Amino acid sequence: MLSSTIIQYLERNENSFFSIWCSHLSLKSTRILYNRKLSDDWLFNHATGILPSSAKITVFEEIRDVFDKMKIQPCIYVLPGPKTSIMEEMIHASNMVHIDTIEVMYANHVPPASGNSIQITCIENKDADRWVDLYLKAFDVSISAIEEVRRAVSRMLRERVDLLLAKIDDKAVGILALFSQERVGGIYCVGTDPDYRKHGVGSALLSEAARLSIKRGNFILGLQILRSANLRNFYAQNGFTKIYDKKVYSSRI
Ligand SMILES: CC(C)(COP(=O)(O)OP(=O)(O)OC[C@H]1O[C@@H](n2cnc3c(N)ncnc32)[C@H](O)[C@@H]1OP(=O)(O)O)[C@@H](O)C(=O)NCCC(=O)NCCS
Repeated sequence: MLSSTIIQYLERNENSFFSIWCSHLSLKSTRILYNRKLSDDWLFNHATGILPSSAKITVFEEIRDVFDKMKIQPCIYVLPGPKTSIMEEMIHASNMVHIDTIEVMYANHVPPASGNSIQITCIENKDADRWVDLYLKAFDVSISAIEEVRRAVSRMLRERVDLLLAKIDDKAVGILALFSQERVGGIYCVGTDPDYRKHGVGSALLSEAARLSIKRGNFILGLQILRSANLRNFYAQNGFTKIYDKKVYSSRI
């Protein structure tokens, strides 16, 4: 399969997953995802999928205007493509700078699960609060976001996202979301309790997600990491290989 097709599949998976968490606006040449209650996190507030054919300086000005009106820091993802460098020049001209890069990876093999003291289950509604609490702890999210995260978790459960919870001696220590659509699996929200890191919990979650993804009939399994988080080796050790980068631009702070 052409890698541009794989990019489209993985991008659709990501956009659909974040649409569960966010509202969206479809402009002529781009799509803007936003969530005012999580406005300090650009993962939930960005423009993406800008068509190279429609890249004009006015497009980037329009994106800035939309975010300015919502009082959210503007953010744009730039995908690899034929006009990437021209788009980047226009983004610079609209006074935005490169702030990070998202590395998109896919699973090329499934390492076996190791830690047998780690139990992993797919949660149901009754376990939702444990998942939410760990989300806040693992990602160091303010308690003020708890209602919004609860809302997203109940929507994810309704949309049949597999929400994995890792436990050691019944203590919740790790979480992961597996979103399956169009026979493509997307791994999101991989996080572990800071007190239990480097004990194999993250790896056990990835291994279980890869096994479950095959069971769901997915032919590819992808995930996205921030280059600044420096996690490429961790994911490489767990069977993932980088397939493409997306540059992230935002206004000067
Ligand atoms: C990234 C994250 C999920 C890793 O979780 P974890 O439970 O520490 O993962 P593991 O224990 O399986 O592996 C982490 C490291 O510990 C090592 N390790 C695993 N078991 C170990 C053990 N028993 N003794 C010593 N080291 C061990 C692994 O080899 C790995 O090494 P590496 O960092 O050099 O690759 C966790 O750090 C986290 O939640 N970070 C904050 C949220 C985040 O950034 N999530 C990623 C979003 S893409």
